[in-house]
Amino acid sequence: MKSDFINIVFFTGAGMSAESGVPTYRGKGGIWHEYKWEEYACQNAFDNNPQIVLDFHELRRIEALKCNPHSGHFRMSEIESKKDKTYIITQNIDGMHQRAASKNVIELHGSLWRMKCQSEKIIIDDKNFGKYSSRYCKCGNILRPDIVWFKDMLDEYTIKKATEVIINADLFISIGTSALVWPAAGYANLAKDNGAYMIEINPHNTELSTIYDKIIRKKASEGLEYLVNEGYFN
Ligand code: OAD
Repeated sequence: MKSDFINIVFFTGAGMSAESGVPTYRGKGGIWHEYKWEEYACQNAFDNNPQIVLDFHELRRIEALKCNPHSGHFRMSEIESKKDKTYIITQNIDGMHQRAASKNVIELHGSLWRMKCQSEKIIIDDKNFGKYSSRYCKCGNILRPDIVWFKDMLDEYTIKKATEVIINADLFISIGTSALVWPAAGYANLAKDNGAYMIEINPHNTELSTIYDKIIRKKASEGLEYLVNEGYFN
């Protein structure tokens, strides 16, 4: 087994946070079964009824703070401290990787912990993971979560950075994503086309399972532990 990987990419989805108690989006108990994204997670919903959308996101912040990073999150930050070209590209917005001390985190879908003023084009970053006391910018405009909602474009700089990191990857490990939402599918294929060794950790089959070199049908923390014990990060 090869163990001299240098450029490592972890590509994480909601299944990574599931073990911490954060609900996924599509499986059993998934957020989009309880809440229609059309009413809570798109610009149109925010324009029609910003307070309801902000209440939903406040609730998600409160729920996220009840959860803590699990051993898999900490494994990943340990790997990063040993191998500094390790990156986490995450679709998660809950900040769990940062709470486990990972630094090279690219948040594709933004963050629950940032708000932005659409008129001043400024981002308010809550590094302390606290509640927002005001829903309004100093300019008087209502703040919106800095999240890539349905129908939003991804941030250009974030895509550029993620693409660069994926092209250079020699090991690409997808963890806990259904791979149904763009760019999940595109990124895994991009890594494979550029020669990365491909590993999927997911208890269930996904649309992309067939493209992986190794499939680990375990929970995120167990799958990571297995890879560590097998010497993939030596
Ligand atoms: P999904 O809810 O679509 O998929 C979660 C995946 O995690 C499934 O494949 C599960 O099998 C897997 N899973 C569940 N428990 C797991 C565990 N303990 N360990 C490992 N895997 C586990 O979530 P995402 O693929 O992340 O976007 O969804 C992508 C995007 O769709 C989200 O970022 C979100 C959503 O709409 C926005 O909100 C913009």
